[in-house]
Amino acid sequence: MVNACLRRYLREAEALHTQVEADWEARYNHPAWWVKRVRRDHPQHWQAILAASQHSAPLVLRVNVTHTSRDAYLARLSDEGVSAQAVGLVGVVLNQPVPVEGLPGYAEGWFSVQDTAAQCAAPLVLDGVNAPTDRPLRAPGGKTAHLLEHAHALGVSVDVLALEVDARRSARITENLQRLRLNGTASVKVADAAQPAAWWDGLPFDAVLLDAPCSASGIVRRHPDVRWLRRESDVPALVETQRRILEALWPTLAPGGRLVYCTCSIFKAEGQAQVDSFLSRHTNALACTAPGHLLPGARSDAGGLPDNPSGEHDGFFYAVLEKVA
Ligand SMILES: C[S@@+](CC[C@H](N)C(=O)[O-])C[C@H]1O[C@@H](n2cnc3c(N)ncnc32)[C@H](O)[C@@H]1O
Repeated sequence: MVNACLRRYLREAEALHTQVEADWEARYNHPAWWVKRVRRDHPQHWQAILAASQHSAPLVLRVNVTHTSRDAYLARLSDEGVSAQAVGLVGVVLNQPVPVEGLPGYAEGWFSVQDTAAQCAAPLVLDGVNAPTDRPLRAPGGKTAHLLEHAHALGVSVDVLALEVDARRSARITENLQRLRLNGTASVKVADAAQPAAWWDGLPFDAVLLDAPCSASGIVRRHPDVRWLRRESDVPALVETQRRILEALWPTLAPGGRLVYCTCSIFKAEGQAQVDSFLSRHTNALACTAPGHLLPGARSDAGGLPDNPSGEHDGFFYAVLEKVA
Protein backbone atom coordinates (compact mmCIF):
# COMPACT_ATOMS: atom_id res chain seq x y z
CA MET A 1 0.00 0.00 0.00
CA VAL A 2 2.86 2.36 0.87
CA ASN A 3 4.43 1.61 -2.50
CA ALA A 4 1.13 2.41 -4.23
CA CYS A 5 0.73 5.66 -2.27
CA LEU A 6 4.25 6.83 -3.10
CA ARG A 7 3.88 5.94 -6.77
CA ARG A 8 0.59 7.79 -6.93
CA TYR A 9 2.24 10.77 -5.24
CA LEU A 10 4.96 10.75 -7.92
CA ARG A 11 2.34 10.68 -10.65
CA GLU A 12 0.04 13.33 -9.16
CA ALA A 13 2.39 15.49 -7.06
CA GLU A 14 1.50 18.77 -8.74
CA ALA A 15 -2.27 18.29 -8.45
CA LEU A 16 -1.96 17.09 -4.84
CA HIS A 17 0.10 20.13 -3.84
CA THR A 18 -2.48 22.44 -5.39
CA GLN A 19 -5.20 20.60 -3.46
CA VAL A 20 -3.28 20.93 -0.15
CA GLU A 21 -2.69 24.65 -0.72
CA ALA A 22 -6.44 25.19 -0.99
CA ASP A 23 -7.35 23.01 1.99
CA TRP A 24 -6.55 24.65 5.36
CA GLU A 25 -6.91 21.41 7.31
CA ALA A 26 -4.32 19.67 5.17
CA ARG A 27 -2.06 22.69 4.83
CA TYR A 28 -1.88 23.62 8.54
CA ASN A 29 -2.60 20.16 10.01
CA HIS A 30 -5.33 21.56 12.31
CA PRO A 31 -9.16 21.46 12.04
CA ALA A 32 -10.45 24.29 9.80
CA TRP A 33 -12.47 25.89 12.68
CA TRP A 34 -9.29 25.97 14.79
CA VAL A 35 -7.26 27.63 12.02
CA LYS A 36 -10.00 30.26 11.55
CA ARG A 37 -10.10 31.01 15.29
CA VAL A 38 -6.31 31.36 15.60
CA ARG A 39 -6.26 33.59 12.52
CA ARG A 40 -9.03 35.81 13.92
CA ASP A 41 -7.51 35.98 17.44
CA HIS A 42 -3.89 36.52 16.37
CA PRO A 43 -3.94 38.09 12.90
CA GLN A 44 -0.21 38.88 13.02
CA HIS A 45 1.05 35.53 14.27
CA TRP A 46 -1.46 32.86 13.34
CA GLN A 47 0.76 31.06 10.85
CA ALA A 48 3.75 31.04 13.22
CA ILE A 49 1.50 29.69 16.01
CA LEU A 50 0.20 26.87 13.82
CA ALA A 51 3.73 26.12 12.61
CA ALA A 52 4.98 25.90 16.23
CA SER A 53 2.49 23.07 16.84
CA GLN A 54 4.24 20.91 14.23
CA HIS A 55 7.40 20.62 16.32
CA SER A 56 7.99 18.77 19.55
CA ALA A 57 8.32 20.88 22.69
CA PRO A 58 11.55 21.05 24.70
CA LEU A 59 11.88 19.31 28.06
CA VAL A 60 11.85 22.00 30.75
CA LEU A 61 12.43 21.39 34.46
CA ARG A 62 11.61 23.58 37.43
CA VAL A 63 14.30 23.30 40.10
CA ASN A 64 12.91 22.73 43.60
CA VAL A 65 14.64 25.56 45.45
CA THR A 66 13.73 24.11 48.84
CA HIS A 67 16.40 21.45 48.06
CA THR A 68 18.96 22.99 45.75
CA SER A 69 19.64 26.06 43.62
CA ARG A 70 19.25 26.28 39.87
CA ASP A 71 23.01 26.94 39.44
CA ALA A 72 23.93 23.94 41.60
CA TYR A 73 21.56 21.72 39.63
CA LEU A 74 22.93 22.94 36.27
CA ALA A 75 26.45 22.10 37.52
CA ARG A 76 25.26 18.64 38.59
CA LEU A 77 23.70 18.03 35.15
CA SER A 78 26.92 19.14 33.49
CA ASP A 79 28.91 16.70 35.69
CA GLU A 80 26.64 13.93 34.43
CA GLY A 81 27.13 14.97 30.80
CA VAL A 82 23.60 16.38 30.37
CA SER A 83 23.69 19.63 28.44
CA ALA A 84 21.14 22.20 29.61
CA GLN A 85 20.57 25.94 30.00
CA ALA A 86 18.89 28.26 32.45
CA VAL A 87 15.45 29.61 31.52
CA GLY A 88 13.16 31.93 33.51
CA LEU A 89 13.63 32.26 37.28
CA VAL A 90 14.32 28.65 38.27
CA GLY A 91 13.88 26.72 35.00
CA VAL A 92 16.30 24.47 33.16
CA VAL A 93 15.82 23.52 29.52
CA LEU A 94 17.51 20.34 28.35
CA ASN A 95 19.14 20.39 24.92
CA GLN A 96 18.05 16.76 24.36
CA PRO A 97 14.92 15.32 26.01
CA VAL A 98 15.71 12.29 28.22
CA PRO A 99 13.63 10.09 30.56
CA VAL A 100 13.36 12.28 33.65
CA GLU A 101 13.52 9.34 36.10
CA GLY A 102 17.19 8.95 35.07
CA LEU A 103 18.14 12.56 35.86
CA PRO A 104 19.95 13.30 39.13
CA GLY A 105 17.64 13.99 42.06
CA TYR A 106 14.37 12.76 40.50
CA ALA A 107 13.47 10.43 43.39
CA GLU A 108 14.72 13.01 45.91
CA GLY A 109 12.37 15.66 44.47
CA TRP A 110 14.99 18.13 43.25
CA PHE A 111 12.88 19.15 40.26
CA SER A 112 9.51 18.97 38.52
CA VAL A 113 8.73 18.88 34.81
CA GLN A 114 6.98 22.13 33.93
CA ASP A 115 7.00 24.35 30.86
CA THR A 116 8.56 27.82 31.14
CA ALA A 117 5.20 29.54 30.54
CA ALA A 118 3.55 27.55 33.34
CA GLN A 119 6.40 28.58 35.65
CA CYS A 120 5.13 32.19 35.60
CA ALA A 121 2.11 31.33 37.80
CA ALA A 122 3.60 31.13 41.30
CA PRO A 123 5.67 34.36 41.04
CA LEU A 124 2.61 36.22 39.72
CA VAL A 125 0.59 35.01 42.71
CA LEU A 126 3.13 35.64 45.46
CA ASP A 127 5.31 38.50 44.32
CA GLY A 128 2.55 41.08 44.45
CA VAL A 129 1.00 39.96 47.73
CA ASN A 130 1.88 41.72 50.95
CA ALA A 131 2.80 38.87 53.26
CA PRO A 132 1.07 39.17 56.65
CA THR A 133 3.57 38.89 59.51
CA ASP A 134 1.19 37.50 62.12
CA ARG A 135 -0.13 34.46 60.21
CA PRO A 136 0.64 32.38 57.11
CA LEU A 137 -0.53 33.69 53.74
CA ARG A 138 -3.65 31.81 52.59
CA ALA A 139 -4.04 30.69 48.98
CA PRO A 140 -5.99 27.90 47.25
CA GLY A 141 -5.35 26.50 43.76
CA GLY A 142 -3.26 24.21 41.57
CA LYS A 143 0.44 24.52 40.70
CA THR A 144 0.68 23.91 44.39
CA ALA A 145 4.24 22.70 44.61
CA HIS A 146 5.62 25.75 42.82
CA LEU A 147 3.74 28.08 45.16
CA LEU A 148 5.35 26.32 48.13
CA GLU A 149 8.81 26.39 46.54
CA HIS A 150 8.52 30.06 45.58
CA ALA A 151 7.23 31.00 49.04
CA HIS A 152 10.29 29.25 50.49
CA ALA A 153 12.56 31.29 48.18
CA LEU A 154 10.84 34.51 49.34
CA GLY A 155 10.98 33.47 53.00
CA VAL A 156 7.19 33.73 53.28
CA SER A 157 5.05 31.31 55.27
CA VAL A 158 2.03 30.10 53.26
CA ASP A 159 -1.05 28.07 54.04
CA VAL A 160 -2.10 26.56 50.70
CA LEU A 161 -5.38 24.88 49.85
CA ALA A 162 -5.29 23.03 46.49
CA LEU A 163 -8.65 22.17 44.92
CA GLU A 164 -9.10 19.55 42.20
CA VAL A 165 -12.46 18.14 41.19
CA ASP A 166 -10.98 14.92 39.74
CA ALA A 167 -9.98 12.43 42.46
CA ARG A 168 -7.25 10.79 40.34
CA ARG A 169 -5.64 14.12 39.49
CA SER A 170 -5.91 15.17 43.11
CA ALA A 171 -4.03 11.99 44.15
CA ARG A 172 -1.31 12.95 41.66
CA ILE A 173 -0.92 16.38 43.33
CA THR A 174 -0.43 14.60 46.68
CA GLU A 175 2.08 12.13 45.15
CA ASN A 176 4.02 15.01 43.62
CA LEU A 177 4.14 16.88 46.90
CA GLN A 178 5.47 13.72 48.55
CA ARG A 179 8.20 13.24 45.93
CA LEU A 180 9.20 16.90 46.26
CA ARG A 181 9.18 16.51 50.09
CA LEU A 182 6.61 19.31 50.33
CA ASN A 183 3.78 17.26 51.82
CA GLY A 184 2.35 18.54 55.05
CA THR A 185 2.60 22.14 53.88
CA ALA A 186 -0.53 22.17 51.70
CA SER A 187 -3.97 20.73 52.04
CA VAL A 188 -5.27 19.01 48.89
CA LYS A 189 -9.04 18.62 48.54
CA VAL A 190 -11.23 16.90 45.98
CA ALA A 191 -13.82 19.62 45.50
CA ASP A 192 -15.64 21.74 42.94
CA ALA A 193 -14.07 25.21 42.96
CA ALA A 194 -17.38 26.62 41.71
CA GLN A 195 -19.10 25.51 44.96
CA PRO A 196 -17.23 27.28 47.79
CA ALA A 197 -20.04 26.48 50.27
CA ALA A 198 -18.75 22.88 50.26
CA TRP A 199 -15.10 23.63 51.08
CA TRP A 200 -14.55 27.25 52.20
CA ASP A 201 -14.28 28.04 55.90
CA GLY A 202 -15.23 31.66 55.27
CA LEU A 203 -11.74 33.08 56.01
CA PRO A 204 -10.74 35.19 53.01
CA PHE A 205 -7.71 34.16 50.95
CA ASP A 206 -4.83 36.58 50.41
CA ALA A 207 -4.34 35.16 46.91
CA VAL A 208 -6.17 32.87 44.52
CA LEU A 209 -4.60 31.06 41.57
CA LEU A 210 -7.23 29.83 39.13
CA ASP A 211 -5.54 27.40 36.75
CA ALA A 212 -8.75 26.99 34.82
CA PRO A 213 -9.91 24.02 32.75
CA CYS A 214 -9.50 25.03 29.10
CA SER A 215 -9.21 23.85 25.48
CA ALA A 216 -5.42 23.28 25.91
CA SER A 217 -4.95 25.05 22.57
CA GLY A 218 -1.58 26.41 23.76
CA ILE A 219 -0.02 22.99 24.32
CA VAL A 220 -0.75 21.24 21.02
CA ARG A 221 2.91 20.36 20.50
CA ARG A 222 2.85 18.45 23.81
CA HIS A 223 -0.54 16.85 23.06
CA PRO A 224 -0.72 16.65 19.26
CA ASP A 225 -4.10 14.91 19.26
CA VAL A 226 -5.86 17.61 21.30
CA ARG A 227 -6.66 19.63 18.17
CA TRP A 228 -8.51 16.67 16.62
CA LEU A 229 -10.29 15.62 19.82
CA ARG A 230 -11.73 19.07 20.56
CA ARG A 231 -14.98 20.18 18.96
CA GLU A 232 -15.73 23.81 18.13
CA SER A 233 -18.68 23.65 20.53
CA ASP A 234 -16.32 22.77 23.43
CA VAL A 235 -14.97 26.33 23.47
CA PRO A 236 -18.17 28.17 24.60
CA ALA A 237 -18.85 25.38 27.12
CA LEU A 238 -15.34 25.81 28.59
CA VAL A 239 -15.73 29.61 28.62
CA GLU A 240 -18.92 29.18 30.69
CA THR A 241 -17.17 26.81 33.16
CA GLN A 242 -14.29 29.28 33.56
CA ARG A 243 -16.77 32.13 34.10
CA ARG A 244 -18.63 30.14 36.79
CA ILE A 245 -15.44 29.27 38.70
CA LEU A 246 -14.12 32.83 38.44
CA GLU A 247 -17.40 34.24 39.79
CA ALA A 248 -17.46 31.70 42.65
CA LEU A 249 -13.84 32.33 43.73
CA TRP A 250 -13.89 36.13 43.64
CA PRO A 251 -15.89 36.48 46.91
CA THR A 252 -13.35 34.22 48.70
CA LEU A 253 -10.56 36.75 48.04
CA ALA A 254 -9.68 39.29 50.74
CA PRO A 255 -9.85 43.00 49.84
CA GLY A 256 -6.38 43.99 48.60
CA GLY A 257 -5.71 40.36 47.56
CA ARG A 258 -4.91 39.20 44.04
CA LEU A 259 -6.42 36.57 41.81
CA VAL A 260 -4.27 35.14 39.04
CA TYR A 261 -6.34 33.66 36.24
CA CYS A 262 -4.48 31.41 33.81
CA THR A 263 -5.17 28.91 31.06
CA CYS A 264 -2.95 26.98 28.67
CA SER A 265 -5.07 28.31 25.80
CA ILE A 266 -4.29 30.75 23.02
CA PHE A 267 -7.98 31.39 22.25
CA LYS A 268 -8.98 34.92 23.27
CA ALA A 269 -12.43 33.76 24.41
CA GLU A 270 -10.75 31.80 27.21
CA GLY A 271 -8.24 34.54 27.99
CA GLN A 272 -8.49 38.27 27.39
CA ALA A 273 -12.19 38.24 26.45
CA GLN A 274 -13.04 36.22 29.59
CA VAL A 275 -11.18 38.72 31.78
CA ASP A 276 -12.59 41.80 30.00
CA SER A 277 -16.08 40.46 30.58
CA PHE A 278 -15.29 39.80 34.28
CA LEU A 279 -13.93 43.35 34.68
CA SER A 280 -17.09 44.81 33.12
CA ARG A 281 -19.19 43.00 35.77
CA HIS A 282 -16.98 43.76 38.81
CA THR A 283 -16.14 47.33 39.66
CA ASN A 284 -14.00 46.13 42.61
CA ALA A 285 -11.63 44.27 40.25
CA LEU A 286 -8.53 46.03 38.97
CA ALA A 287 -6.44 44.55 36.16
CA CYS A 288 -2.74 44.64 37.09
CA THR A 289 0.25 44.23 34.79
CA ALA A 290 0.38 40.63 33.55
CA PRO A 291 1.78 38.68 30.59
CA GLY A 292 -1.62 38.33 28.84
CA HIS A 293 -1.52 35.92 25.91
CA LEU A 294 1.84 34.15 25.57
CA LEU A 295 2.11 32.56 22.16
CA PRO A 296 3.72 29.14 21.67
CA GLY A 297 7.16 28.99 20.12
CA ALA A 298 10.45 30.70 20.53
CA ARG A 299 11.47 34.30 20.25
CA SER A 300 14.30 34.65 17.85
CA ASP A 301 15.42 37.22 15.36
CA ALA A 302 14.39 34.86 12.59
CA GLY A 303 10.61 34.91 12.58
CA GLY A 304 10.01 34.76 16.36
CA LEU A 305 6.78 35.99 17.89
CA PRO A 306 7.32 39.54 19.20
CA ASP A 307 4.80 39.18 22.08
CA ASN A 308 6.82 36.41 23.71
CA PRO A 309 9.34 36.66 26.50
CA SER A 310 12.70 35.20 25.50
CA GLY A 311 13.06 31.42 25.33
CA GLU A 312 10.92 28.52 24.22
CA HIS A 313 7.54 28.08 25.87
CA ASP A 314 3.98 26.85 25.46
CA GLY A 315 0.97 29.04 24.71
CA PHE A 316 -0.54 30.43 27.90
CA PHE A 317 -2.69 33.26 29.23
CA TYR A 318 -2.19 35.15 32.48
CA ALA A 319 -4.26 37.92 34.03
CA VAL A 320 -3.76 39.39 37.50
CA LEU A 321 -6.83 40.91 39.16
CA GLU A 322 -6.57 42.89 42.37
CA LYS A 323 -9.57 43.26 44.65
CA VAL A 324 -9.97 46.90 45.43
CA ALA A 325 -10.46 47.41 49.16
C1 LIG B 1 -5.54 23.29 33.35
S1 LIG B 1 -5.76 21.98 34.44
C2 LIG B 1 -4.71 22.45 35.74
C3 LIG B 1 -4.09 21.27 36.43
C4 LIG B 1 -3.18 21.59 37.62
N1 LIG B 1 -3.44 22.89 38.20
C5 LIG B 1 -1.73 21.42 37.28
O1 LIG B 1 -0.94 22.39 37.40
O2 LIG B 1 -1.35 20.33 36.89
C6 LIG B 1 -7.35 22.31 35.08
C7 LIG B 1 -7.75 21.36 36.19
O3 LIG B 1 -8.98 21.82 36.75
C8 LIG B 1 -9.74 20.69 37.14
N2 LIG B 1 -11.12 21.18 37.27
C9 LIG B 1 -12.04 21.34 36.29
N3 LIG B 1 -13.18 21.85 36.78
C10 LIG B 1 -12.96 22.03 38.12
C11 LIG B 1 -13.76 22.54 39.18
N4 LIG B 1 -15.02 22.95 38.97
N5 LIG B 1 -13.23 22.56 40.43
C12 LIG B 1 -11.96 22.13 40.65
N6 LIG B 1 -11.16 21.65 39.68
C13 LIG B 1 -11.66 21.62 38.44
C14 LIG B 1 -9.49 19.67 36.06
O4 LIG B 1 -9.74 18.36 36.51
C15 LIG B 1 -8.00 19.92 35.74
O5 LIG B 1 -7.17 19.08 36.46
